[in-house]
Amino acid sequence: MALVQEFNTGTPIRVNGAMVTLTIDGQSVSVPAGASVMAAAATLGTQIPRLCATDMLDAFGSCRLCLVEIEGRKGTPASCTTPAEAGMKVKTQTPRLAKLRRGVMELYISDHPLDCLTCSANGDCELQAQAGAVGLREVRYGYEGVNHLKSPTDSSNPYFTFESSKCIVCSRCVRACEEVQGTFALTIEGRGFGSKVSAGGVDFFDSECVSCGACVQVCPTATLNEKSVIALGTPEHSVVTTCAYCGVGCSFKAEMKGEEVVRMVPYKAGKANEGHSCVKGRFAYGYATHKDRIVKPMIRKHITDPWREVSWDEALQYAASEFKRLQKDYGRDSIGAITSSRCTNEETFIVQKLVRAGFGNNNVDTCARVCHSPTGYGLSKTFGTSAGTQDFKSVEKADVIMVIGANPTDAHPVFASRMKKRLREGARLIVIDPRRIDLVRSPHVKADYHLPLLPGSNVAVINALAHVVVTEGLVDEAFVRERCDLASFESWARLIADERNSPEATAGMSGVDPGQLRAAARLYATGGNGAIYYGLGVTEHSQGSTMVMGMANLAMATGNIGRAGVGVNPLRGQNNVQGSCDMGSFPHEFSGYRHISDDATREMFEHLWGVPLSGEPGLRIPNMMDEAVEGAFKGLYVQGEDIAQSDPDTQHITAGLRAMECVVVQDLFLNETARYAHVFLPGSSFLEKDGTFTNAERRISRVRKVMAPLAGMADWETTIAFAKALGVEMHYSHPSQIMDEIAELTPTFAGVSYDRLDELNSIQWPCNDKAPTGTPIMHVDRFVRGKGRFMLTEFFPTDERTGPRFPLLLTTGRILSQYNVGAQTRRTSNNAWHEEDVLEIHPFDAESRGVRDGDLVSLQSRIGEISLHAKISERMQPGVVYTTFHHPNSGANVITTEYSDWATNCPEYKVTAVQVRRTNHYSDWQEQDREEGFSLRRIAQGLVDAAE
Ligand code: SF4
Ligand code: SF4
Ligand code: SF4
Ligand code: FES
Repeated sequence: MALVQEFNTGTPIRVNGAMVTLTIDGQSVSVPAGASVMAAAATLGTQIPRLCATDMLDAFGSCRLCLVEIEGRKGTPASCTTPAEAGMKVKTQTPRLAKLRRGVMELYISDHPLDCLTCSANGDCELQAQAGAVGLREVRYGYEGVNHLKSPTDSSNPYFTFESSKCIVCSRCVRACEEVQGTFALTIEGRGFGSKVSAGGVDFFDSECVSCGACVQVCPTATLNEKSVIALGTPEHSVVTTCAYCGVGCSFKAEMKGEEVVRMVPYKAGKANEGHSCVKGRFAYGYATHKDRIVKPMIRKHITDPWREVSWDEALQYAASEFKRLQKDYGRDSIGAITSSRCTNEETFIVQKLVRAGFGNNNVDTCARVCHSPTGYGLSKTFGTSAGTQDFKSVEKADVIMVIGANPTDAHPVFASRMKKRLREGARLIVIDPRRIDLVRSPHVKADYHLPLLPGSNVAVINALAHVVVTEGLVDEAFVRERCDLASFESWARLIADERNSPEATAGMSGVDPGQLRAAARLYATGGNGAIYYGLGVTEHSQGSTMVMGMANLAMATGNIGRAGVGVNPLRGQNNVQGSCDMGSFPHEFSGYRHISDDATREMFEHLWGVPLSGEPGLRIPNMMDEAVEGAFKGLYVQGEDIAQSDPDTQHITAGLRAMECVVVQDLFLNETARYAHVFLPGSSFLEKDGTFTNAERRISRVRKVMAPLAGMADWETTIAFAKALGVEMHYSHPSQIMDEIAELTPTFAGVSYDRLDELNSIQWPCNDKAPTGTPIMHVDRFVRGKGRFMLTEFFPTDERTGPRFPLLLTTGRILSQYNVGAQTRRTSNNAWHEEDVLEIHPFDAESRGVRDGDLVSLQSRIGEISLHAKISERMQPGVVYTTFHHPNSGANVITTEYSDWATNCPEYKVTAVQVRRTNHYSDWQEQDREEGFSLRRIAQGLVDAAE
């Protein structure tokens, strides 16, 4: 296996229809108009020497190494900045050019340390390669003059170094930070010989840098270099795979030495990220080999007993015998399973198969229950399918971008970079969020409107936006007439036009200025292509499903569906949350969102699986816990999900888990849920298995194994072995066979196979006979359900209200460096940026409570109490506080309530009435949790030590 080398055209080639034909070194070549001479030459296989150019960045023209001769033109123009023109005759190799290039290279080398043999980039350095390419044999200027060889090295970033003595000031890093990432953290300071790269006058760690790695990737020398490469040496082979963090689904080359990952390099051919990355996927992969990994199966009779390491066979037999006993003693419906949105489609599919075909019930649910289940419900009701409408690229055609309840720069950073690029090009921006998220104002990006609504008032705001559209004559009547169900439109429009939904009437509930709201509605409706992107700030509410339908209504009413640049797009949280839903993880649906009560669908599954299946929907996660507390639900198989930390009302979840007789946890680490487990089955990371993930744009991408599973089995193999122990035979020897079965049983996946994925790189479902290469944009000519249906979206305030005891509203979210419950990121150097969850509070609320920045404060709701350190922040509005839930002992979910979405039970994480007070101690729950946590860690440590 070799390193996957990606072709670099030197400057980007943008396909725009028109082609020009020119001659380069006597060979004819046609390229899209606007492509550079350098790129045209590259398509012929001629790599013109270059240093400041790379095809991730616009041409810059500073190094003067890429000179060419063009017939009829004077001088030697730079090929990177010269557009290819029809009829041009170009020479890339002449004695004059060779001399000029050697002269340029000589100057560079005379100010560069000559330590190639011991340099960490030896063999992977463009300066070294280009010196060879131009035939440099001597450096006439010597190395004694004024130079930069003693410039300092900045090692402050946990993942890469900046060895400035090696910098050739090509500006690639500065441009990558601007053009690709959109952070503008770097500048070139000084002029001429004194110019140097600066991270704003401070070191990288204290700068605006968000560690996306774009600068490291484009640096042609070892100046910006991964610490892992410095430690391990240059990689030897690579495998293309998919990031296992967020729903952007970035494609990476895992560059390896033997079975050790040297670095993760974003893959340019990956359509979700096109060569970009964020700090998590790029650098935070060390958790996969962290010493906390549990690699031996364990069992115990009672959760108060110490764990006992056993063989795989003993663990699986024990779990199976317990599950059989429970069904015998308490009935068929007394057990169930939770699938993982971190696992592959194939793994998820076979867990739900195990439940339906093996347990004989439909008690299967997934973590999407607590995040995007309202998306499934809302988009399915209005459009006819449970997924976002666009590909990510679509944002490049958006004229007005509306971001609702999402914080893309932290939670979906690579998509945020794409979005920011479009905004810098002139697209307009509306942000609807209680907080002033970074997008509201960041370098060269400023929201036209920020509507800082009060948590819990989403539906009031979407109705008010729609009210403006309906009452001011902004409806796209032609679209509604042709594409939508008219009767549903009329009854919706009647409701929406009512004065109670006007911006003025709703302002008291939402806190949004009616004038700003009216202006935002007009902009969205009349500003060209309007695209909505939303996140958990929409779904995790008691009216989450209503809000999703409200956005879909608004998009249909303004004709913003069915082409590039528009749409309604959920920014999915976990890497495979779309996939886990697609695969039939909900208790009422088979794969492809078909209801289990549909006889024809059920018969198809029964026929292939050879067992009768129940048509009765099973239990959702909250109902499993309710039934467990009541004594009817006794056994749970949890694959890759930490419900004790991530689900709301922690005490209720743990009470449910405690009440069960056999909890089987399959995970990488002894997570919080494992405290209540009787069987622990070691999980496998994304590096240890084959499979597929499906991202937020419905893109199915391959996950490829780069190392053997540390515990001996990949997750899909463990499920098969567990099924076998239960007497359910699953005959798959490779995940590709599971995908073949998914394709056979799921019309939207009918054309998907591993061969097809290898050929096309990735596929957006639906993929079938009608769409053999997949479907980037949905609902183009007609909605999946035929006519788009407007759904009534009456606003009902949540029952969770502020009052004298709990006068503030708490809302929750994520930050860039940590991920979800932090199980992975907390085991990486990302902790350097976020060691603990803090409470963001507005200065006004802080002052009135005597709270200073950094004080320990008690955060109390009617459900529970925790203590956190305060961070005073003007990003908050008065009356609203905010925290994250990345660290288990913060216990954000100890205080969130039992309220949930009326349609899907998705918890109302985003609205909790709280009080904040200064305190000098942690809460009782935290103290107890700490004690238990220490003993848990001691057990884990003992096991690790024993294993070593
Ligand atoms: S790592 Fe990313 S954000 Fe940081 S300086 Fe480099 S390009 Fe900019
Ligand atoms: S750090 Fe690298 S990319 Fe940046 S200017 Fe120096 S050599 Fe060029
Ligand atoms: S944006 Fe998401 S998928 Fe991409 S590298 Fe970051 S965490 Fe991974
Ligand atoms: S590559 Fe063209 S001027 Fe640097």
